[in-house]
Amino acid sequence: MSNTENGFFTEATSAEVVISRNSKARDARLAEVMAVIIRHLHAAVKEIEPTEAEWFEAIRFLTATGHMCNDWRQEFILLSDVLGVSMLVDAINNRKPSGASESTVLGPFHVADAPELPMGADICLDQKGDPMLVRGTIRSTDGRPLAGAKIDVWQANDEGFYDVQQKGIQPDFNLRGVFRTGVDGRYWFKGVKPKFYPIPDDGPVGKLLAALGRHPYRPAHLHYILEAAGHDRLVTHIFDPDDPYIASDAVFGVKESLLAKFDLIEDEAAIRAAGFDRPFYLVEHDFILAQSA
Ligand code: BEZ
Ligand code: FE
Repeated sequence: MSNTENGFFTEATSAEVVISRNSKARDARLAEVMAVIIRHLHAAVKEIEPTEAEWFEAIRFLTATGHMCNDWRQEFILLSDVLGVSMLVDAINNRKPSGASESTVLGPFHVADAPELPMGADICLDQKGDPMLVRGTIRSTDGRPLAGAKIDVWQANDEGFYDVQQKGIQPDFNLRGVFRTGVDGRYWFKGVKPKFYPIPDDGPVGKLLAALGRHPYRPAHLHYILEAAGHDRLVTHIFDPDDPYIASDAVFGVKESLLAKFDLIEDEAAIRAAGFDRPFYLVEHDFILAQSA
């Protein structure tokens, strides 16, 4: 009887019957992935024992999530983010040798063609908020400073918005820039002290968070993509450790090693030396890149 490869479907044998139906899959990885998903999905349904109304509610949620996706909004990635799956996939794919800087999520607000700027440039084009100087050194795991490393940085403004969320309000490419290190591997640029902000929460994922009693906020951070010849690309952030949401990031992106220090500098001479006209925040953070295998 070839129509019941592993017997007829029963509640007890459900997963194995479905998995055996996929035995002719041409792609072995697809067959493996589907077998794991089917096994875990059936186990979850058996544990939950959903009513038919509850199952339909789940279908409605996934349908709404799909309807919320377009060229600039990816609600399924947001769902993966708030379930901790994005960070888990990131962890599995970015295991680092000891001493290397850790990665975290990319997020949806990176812009591929941000301008390349001279080292030290101010990326805050509208001068709003508390000024900030960020600096540090990019090194290899063997301690060598990395010359010619590319630093792609982007951040939200003092109200917690990225430029792409406020077109016509913030200048284009506000708070973004690409820099290249010199021979000493050092980098420095000016920006504005960032503020915490909510992930886009006007869709099904936001409703889910509310229903779960969770807030949608991410603690204040700066995004980086770092690239240097012979080294693994690093997608990461640095965070303000004093942020009210530092221990409850909606997308689980915070790691202890990514906590920077935001020191308020009020000394007149230091303000002048940094080229500011008022107190500023100094953020010093070094990055260590892993050598490519
Ligand atoms: C971000 O940090 O830009 C971000 C990350 C995940 C979801 C939403 C925003
Ligand atoms: Fe962000």
